[in-house]
Amino acid sequence: MADRHELVGPFPPGSDPESYDKLRRRLLWQLPMGLYLLGSAAGEEKNLMTLNWAMQVATRPKQLAVSVERSALTHRLVAEGGCFALSLVSRQDRAVVRKFVKPAIHDREKKTLNEVAYKTATTGAPIPDLATGYLDCEVRQSLEAGSHTLFLGEVVDAGGGEGSEVLRMEDTRMSYGG
Ligand SMILES: Cc1cc2nc3c(=O)[nH]c(=O)nc-3n(C[C@H](O)[C@H](O)[C@H](O)COP(=O)(O)O)c2cc1C
Repeated sequence: MADRHELVGPFPPGSDPESYDKLRRRLLWQLPMGLYLLGSAAGEEKNLMTLNWAMQVATRPKQLAVSVERSALTHRLVAEGGCFALSLVSRQDRAVVRKFVKPAIHDREKKTLNEVAYKTATTGAPIPDLATGYLDCEVRQSLEAGSHTLFLGEVVDAGGGEGSEVLRMEDTRMSYGG
């Protein structure tokens, strides 16, 4: 992630970089976003990470894009494993996203990540038991986007999705990006 105080250009002619940077960040933070847990797996390794940059990008085939920081463990696992599972979380379970902002501790025997029980999706990616739904994807393409990589995945399996409302950024006090 770019350092908090690093001013990233370009800057419009005549603008003050500091105040322009603040304004641009505020606008970027205003984009409505969901908040998810992204499961990844490569060989024996598994991880879950908090992610808000996810969206559907095609209907035929059904494709999702997720944007993952290059320095994240998840980045390596998605690149190596060629898959990811996007888990939807209920608005009531918003506290869980705080648990997955750094590499999770994996207990293979108990099948937990940071003590959160998970099931294994068709691709091998973990899906936390508390997920209200999931979209399991195989990576079809990856696009370098500076600090992040945009992984495009085709949905190969899906489940749940009934009932509770899905968590979104405004349900937490956390911010990301901008
Ligand atoms: C609210 C919130 C949203 C986040 N969204 C993303 C995201 O969309 N993409 C991303 O790469 N990291 C995102 N992060 C940061 C990752 O959760 C954090 O850097 C991560 O744990 C690193 O992943 P790792 O466990 O795979 O190393 C977000 C963090 C927070 C608190």
